[in-house]
Amino acid sequence: MNKNNDLIQKAILERHSVRHYTEKKLDENIVSMLQNEIKQLNAKSGLNFKLVLNEPKAFRRNIFGLAQFSNVENYIMLIGPDDRATCEKVGYYGEQLVLKAQTKGLNTCWVGGSFAHISDIMTTNKGEKLYCVIAIGYGKNNGRQHKSKPYEAVVVGSKHPEWFKDGVEAALLAPTAFNSQNFTFELKGDSVLAYAPNKKYDQIGLGIVKYHFEIGSGRKLF
Ligand SMILES: Cc1cc2nc3c(=O)[nH]c(=O)nc-3n(C[C@H](O)[C@H](O)[C@H](O)COP(=O)(O)O)c2cc1C
Repeated sequence: MNKNNDLIQKAILERHSVRHYTEKKLDENIVSMLQNEIKQLNAKSGLNFKLVLNEPKAFRRNIFGLAQFSNVENYIMLIGPDDRATCEKVGYYGEQLVLKAQTKGLNTCWVGGSFAHISDIMTTNKGEKLYCVIAIGYGKNNGRQHKSKPYEAVVVGSKHPEWFKDGVEAALLAPTAFNSQNFTFELKGDSVLAYAPNKKYDQIGLGIVKYHFEIGSGRKLF
């Protein structure tokens, strides 16, 4: 694969969820890069992602009484058609934004639950739903590596080719809700199969890990 793939591979290694941000604003170039990426991904996927800037209310309160987030003023709303099949898509395309942002020195955190619904901003069209948001900005730190399941726990069989192993290793570095890593990869002939339980966050996670697998393996599969 190309140079862009190398940058995304590096981003996979460097990315960790970051919940505490500095007050540094996103500059114009970064904003237009993000807007452009979102436009392209929306056109490809039929999703309706939107960037929200300088909006402190969604993360002002500590939803669980903990100082879980600070200074989150920018986020991407992951909106799409309200059906189960969309969860995986949201993960697959949302993670492309996360990793692209990482290549530009930004930090992120996927957030499914711990934000407030701001009614005048978080509007959706009929038949659509807001699945998650991605907090985005300049982190006070770079986060840290999550604990991971071992390779054998997320694959079927053994004796896999190197490209498949590289794909799974990249998937194990991906963000998943509650760090659940509820996914399995299987190589059947030339086909890669990936499964996850049929629950909202697991299906979003499945989309995320499929994207990581493609980057890690260097093969466009899904
Ligand atoms: C779909 C999804 C939803 C998430 N929701 C939340 C959330 O509501 N609050 C939070 O603090 N982290 C949330 N996370 C972040 C996970 O906790 C984090 O990805 C996981 O612990 C692994 O850590 P890492 O991202 O640093 O690798 C979410 C992640 C995903 C993929």
